[in-house]
Amino acid sequence: MQRTLISQAPQKIGQEVLLKGWVNARRDHGKITFIDLRDRTGIAQTVFVNSEKVKDIRREWVLEVVGAVKKRPEDMINPDIPTGKVEIEVKTLNILAVAEDTPFEIDSLGMEVNEELRLKYRYLDLRRPRLTRNLRMRHKIIKFIRDFLDKNDFVEIETPILTKATPEGARDFIVPSRLRPGNFYALPQSPQQYKQLLMVAGFEKYYQIARCFRDEDPRADRAYGEFTQLDIELSFPTREEILLLTEELYKSIIKKFFPEKKLTFDKFPHLSYDEVMKKYKTDKPDLRKDKNNPNELAFCFVVDFPLFEWKESENRWDSMHHPFTAPKEGAVPNLLAGKDIESLKALQYDFVLNGYEIGGGSIRITDPEIQTKIFEIMGHKKRDIEAKFGHLLEAFKYGVPPHGGIAPGIDRFLMIVFNEPSLREVIAFPTNSSGRTAVMDAPSDVDNQQLKELKLSVTKK
Ligand code: AMO
Repeated sequence: MQRTLISQAPQKIGQEVLLKGWVNARRDHGKITFIDLRDRTGIAQTVFVNSEKVKDIRREWVLEVVGAVKKRPEDMINPDIPTGKVEIEVKTLNILAVAEDTPFEIDSLGMEVNEELRLKYRYLDLRRPRLTRNLRMRHKIIKFIRDFLDKNDFVEIETPILTKATPEGARDFIVPSRLRPGNFYALPQSPQQYKQLLMVAGFEKYYQIARCFRDEDPRADRAYGEFTQLDIELSFPTREEILLLTEELYKSIIKKFFPEKKLTFDKFPHLSYDEVMKKYKTDKPDLRKDKNNPNELAFCFVVDFPLFEWKESENRWDSMHHPFTAPKEGAVPNLLAGKDIESLKALQYDFVLNGYEIGGGSIRITDPEIQTKIFEIMGHKKRDIEAKFGHLLEAFKYGVPPHGGIAPGIDRFLMIVFNEPSLREVIAFPTNSSGRTAVMDAPSDVDNQQLKELKLSVTKK
């Protein structure tokens, strides 16, 4: 007999069906026991009459039942669930797995449960309808993004995870090499240099749902360790084309998946960095008209960022976005002369939603002289530049098209549109606030043999 999904049961009145799923709840009424069975499509009421076997069954056991789908009497209809007009009178029951009591309630919102415990038993936490919905929606939205970009002639290309450091302002995660002991890979803080190399390769329109790795202090809106970007790069673009493409994509996502939400601006405003800093004292202003309204979305772009910012802790200039960001045309003479560094403006833009930075990007440098000058101002020595970025400067010698791109953060956007308080609510297996991974509890010790192979020794304090 073929399995029937629970959502399909109402279409099978009078027929016998085979259902498989978890026990969501049980209610005993003397000789009759009701068990609400749950599968990925919904919940249905099953009815056991005079059943010995049903006595031990508890919540979250995994069952398969065969039974007849019956219409419920008018006064027994449950209007709260889509299968509420029917019930399944069970003829045979097969227990597929028993379950211990879960360490916390899984049909609540979950906010009352200690977060460490939720992450330790994340596979149970994910049974929560709120999280199940978040992950299913995440999948649908990412699929929509892929289809949208595919229609616009973009090609998704995977880039390496074991790679060389790419500066995005955070610390790198490094991975020791066994074949070249004493040498290390770095996990990418973003695919920035690869996407630029793909432009040199002639792809013209690239995107990737890319995992990025950054060792930085976590916050509610900043994941520790890893997060996901929609990484985009185009050849021959103007800044306006990139911003328009982003605007169209995000408007279509909202229209399709969040029809209940209202956009503060039909056309996303472009505001200059100087203007927003003066007016709102932040480079990510919250432009909602009514900040108490959970269904208002105020998207905007902040443009014309400074090229450099002074990094007090390191006593040097650092790029405000990343060192591959092009200066505005008028800024080039002063840049090359190393003059008025603080007032140089960049072709950098941020994508902002309700006071959060949900994306960033820029038009890139393609002139090796300008690129080298930027590294120098940041304090890199000539030899250093060659070792760290020589590959990019070399690639630019072979017909590099003008290019630029953007990378909206997927997790942060979803957190806002799902009205969730933290990124952890939209990621399947997030790290906790001290950087330990859900369920598997990494980082952890490795055995001595592995260290030996890598020619590493660990000094313990
Ligand atoms: P940037 O570093 O600005 O740009 O990152 C782009 C977007 O990624 C998201 N983001 C994060 N989300 C969750 N947790 C984090 N720790 C985290 N860090 C960043 C933010 C941010 O706006 N390579 C460039 C893009 C480009 O120039 O095309 C880059 O990575 O939403």
